Amino acid sequence: MNKDTRIVKIKNTNGDFDKSELEEIARAAAIIKNGGLVAFPTETVYGLGGNALNPDASMNIYKAKGRPSDNPLIVHIADKNDVKNLVSVIPETAKVLMDKLWPGPLTIIFPKSEIVPFETTGKLDTVAIRFPENKIAQKLIELSKVPIAAPSANTSGRPSPTNAEHVSEDLFGKIDMIIDGGSSVIGLESTVLDLTGEKPLILRPGGISLEDIKKYLHNVEFDPAVLKKVDEKNQAFIPKAPGMKYKHYAPKAQITIVETDEYKKSDDKTYYEFITSKICNMIADDINNKLNVGVIATIQTLDYYVKHFNMYLVEENGLKRYYNNEKNITLFIIGDINIKDSIAANLFKVLRAFDHENVQKIYSEGVDKEDIGMAIRNRLYKAAGYNVFKVD
Ligand code: TXA
Ligand code: MG
Repeated sequence: MNKDTRIVKIKNTNGDFDKSELEEIARAAAIIKNGGLVAFPTETVYGLGGNALNPDASMNIYKAKGRPSDNPLIVHIADKNDVKNLVSVIPETAKVLMDKLWPGPLTIIFPKSEIVPFETTGKLDTVAIRFPENKIAQKLIELSKVPIAAPSANTSGRPSPTNAEHVSEDLFGKIDMIIDGGSSVIGLESTVLDLTGEKPLILRPGGISLEDIKKYLHNVEFDPAVLKKVDEKNQAFIPKAPGMKYKHYAPKAQITIVETDEYKKSDDKTYYEFITSKICNMIADDINNKLNVGVIATIQTLDYYVKHFNMYLVEENGLKRYYNNEKNITLFIIGDINIKDSIAANLFKVLRAFDHENVQKIYSEGVDKEDIGMAIRNRLYKAAGYNVFKVD
């Protein structure tokens, strides 16, 4: 804690910045150009940015996050033409995706050019590049006149930040500036796509789904490590994205995911009753053992829990919290199971909220794998350390 972190608020997130907002973004850009660190909003999660071409800036990013320096950073650009300076080849497949899906939550891995320092790529000879859609991010990159290396702006291992308060919680005093541009629209990180191997592989599911990419690239697949626990002894499941091997997105409590292989798309009462009754039984044991329990509910399962545990409602920091103090139980709603974007947008916020409640165990129902469901499931599984309980 030695830096005087400035926090500035930008209200015109649609890009119609007023004069004082432009001045603030220009100040942030000057900090980046001079080797400093600025946290900024993107449509996925907040990023911790530094000059991607300056090895010291990259080393300082690792230090501020407490992140192992073999875990490469994503390089952010605001003009597709900047790719050619950063890579040694642009495959034809990449051209189509850059044309159709950029700007947006898709990160593409290329063989790197000489100007990208190994400090930025975690010693790899490939580089991950992303063109974010967020207007503040774009303006910051444009004014700094350098590509910006930015991992998610959280302390390594914690849930990624989806608003400026989350960033502040983790990094205040460690970085030069935080640009507050409100809540991230998507709420989960970008999809990381590797085009340097024989087959196009998704190393991390994210804001752009497999289905979206398949429209332009038929043979794309998930890396087998996406939904499997990494086993260092089993070479087949060593993930190609170094970041995927670390424990991630984790709140302090142990999470248990309870799911069936059959997901109901419609409002199927039998399914909601079934899954909540299984979870309530598990919680009964914890209550007997005097543990503080947390529940992640959807709009669809909320009523079952509220009735079963006789819970009360309070609204704190924009989140509805249901609780019963005699039973030491706290519940947050993650979204509507039929609107998966709502679940993506709230997941990290809810995981962080449990940390403030001193909860010891958290239970969540599962989410199906379609569209952004794959990214949600990947983050939930990792947050739970793959503690998944199948019920049928
Ligand atoms: O949405 C996002 O991608 C956010 C925002 C800020 O843009 N950034 C982000 O960065 O999530 P980070 O560093 O938290 O995650 C980057 C992931 C890691 O799993 C990393 O290992 C992988 O991408 N990655 C980066 N460069 C890579 C490379 N050259 N080869 C393989 N994986 C790479
Ligand atoms: Mg991250």
